[in-house]
Amino acid sequence: MKRIYMDYSATTPVDPRVVDAMAPYWSDVFGNTLSAHAWGQAAATALERAREQVARILGARPSEIVFTASGTEADNLALRGVAWAARRAGRGNHIVTTPIEHHAVEATVEQLHRLFGFEVTVVPVDGHGLVDPDAVRQAIRPDTVLVSVMTASNEVGTVQPIAEIAAVCREHGVPFHTDAVQAAGRMALNVEDLGVDLLALSAHKFYGPKGVGLLYVRRGLALMPAITGGGHEGGRRPGTVNVAGIVGMATALELAEAAREEETARLARLRDRLIEGVLSAIPDVRLTGHPTRRLPHLASFAIRGVEGASVVVGLDLEGIAASSGAACTEGEARPSPVLEAMGLAPEWAVGALRLSLGRYNTEEDVDAVLEALPRVVARLREE
Ligand SMILES: Cc1ncc(COP(=O)(O)O)c(C=O)c1O
Repeated sequence: MKRIYMDYSATTPVDPRVVDAMAPYWSDVFGNTLSAHAWGQAAATALERAREQVARILGARPSEIVFTASGTEADNLALRGVAWAARRAGRGNHIVTTPIEHHAVEATVEQLHRLFGFEVTVVPVDGHGLVDPDAVRQAIRPDTVLVSVMTASNEVGTVQPIAEIAAVCREHGVPFHTDAVQAAGRMALNVEDLGVDLLALSAHKFYGPKGVGLLYVRRGLALMPAITGGGHEGGRRPGTVNVAGIVGMATALELAEAAREEETARLARLRDRLIEGVLSAIPDVRLTGHPTRRLPHLASFAIRGVEGASVVVGLDLEGIAASSGAACTEGEARPSPVLEAMGLAPEWAVGALRLSLGRYNTEEDVDAVLEALPRVVARLREE
């Protein structure tokens, strides 16, 4: 049986060129970047080269890049860092976010609320999962210290009007954070064009290694470290840095950016073939997320009357890897909160299925899914 991986939004395999680029930094150039000797300086040189590489791609200054140990950590640093700095300066107590954020944002905002007393406004999304910049404008108060809206949804692929929301935030002088983890390599991400103040990325979503991320922090923005320790990353993210991983992330981002236009056009064709095929082959199924403003590689559906988790298991038995939502909520047979926020009734919202395409998928893969999925769904509906 040919196995088909169609879960590239959960994670991607590391590009062999990235593996090669990382190779010298495990045991040859192994120094601690803060050491004054030649070993340390060789590592520090590689670290700063990687910082310049990613800064160039993002349209940022190297000093505005903070390397972290994951996308989750980058989101945590953005939210806690800005909220705590604002608290210390007595600037306010209010955060604006959306109901469709990844757990990395959602759970951090929840903790800032429960443990630290921040007030939170959750602006609604429409039936396509889209945030209205005017709703953000209405939510902002004089004591708002941060707005956080993800660039593109990991569950339904909807791409938000980030530049418009950023403009609203700037008008009101409120820092704006975006979780761009799903967008990297799939959309242009220039921090000046977007107008964002904080932007989080994770290497393993664009053929880089797991356990490496970054946070762009606009110059001059007050940010307290979310974890405390020594002087790495200017004290904003203490802990001996993962030079091999960071070199890998920079290489992966450069490769992804170089291939982006061609690859996203190819993936969008496969995605559309998949969407049309699923909608015509299976009764009582609907596309979730925006029909056009969506990530080029992501097809997401609600299938009435079946559990998404069961569909994922059924597909796995056919050798196909899919997801029923965010990877970390897998295994829970409850309606997707993201789909509920988009107004889907529970009998639809339990049937979430996400197929996310990537580098090694072909038309034959799409056709194999279009052959297997109707069978899997029909079998589950008979049970
Ligand atoms: C939108 C989004 N944000 C954050 C993350 C977390 O990134 P990491 O796996 O590097 O912690 C993910 C990964 O699933 C994601 O899809």
